[in-house]
Amino acid sequence: MNMISLHINGKYYTIEDDPATPLLWVLRDSLGLKGTKYGCGIGQCGACSVMVDGVSIRSCALPVETVTDKTIVTIEGIGTEDRLHPVQEAWIAEDVPQCGYCQSGQIISAVSLLDQNPDPSLQQIKKAMDGNLCRCGTYNRIEKAILRVKS
Ligand code: FES
Repeated sequence: MNMISLHINGKYYTIEDDPATPLLWVLRDSLGLKGTKYGCGIGQCGACSVMVDGVSIRSCALPVETVTDKTIVTIEGIGTEDRLHPVQEAWIAEDVPQCGYCQSGQIISAVSLLDQNPDPSLQQIKKAMDGNLCRCGTYNRIEKAILRVKS
């Protein structure tokens, strides 16, 4: 067990944990940030996506010791109840979610994409969102929502 400092959603946290613990479990179990979901646990589905220094990364396969000097943003850091992020507004406008389980990871990847490239082509959207799986098949609505934000 080590003392670990993290910068998440604009706040600083210090926790005691095994440095090899995946970030996903620190977020969910130690910090109560349960918006980031567990899907496969092996870096394949994208349900656990968070932004690390602005890049969408799978937190289930990321030892917490590798992000102590980084800026982390989870779904709880995207918009507020009173002021939604434009991506969240587009998600509502396009009625994107079905079961909803993968959607926090989808939104994180969409925000990361648009922060890096505010005017992505459909092809660039498909490529950027390729690592986020949706068992309900909401891909068309996800793409429409991202196109809505950029327009
Ligand atoms: Fe992390 Fe599936 S739970 S990629």
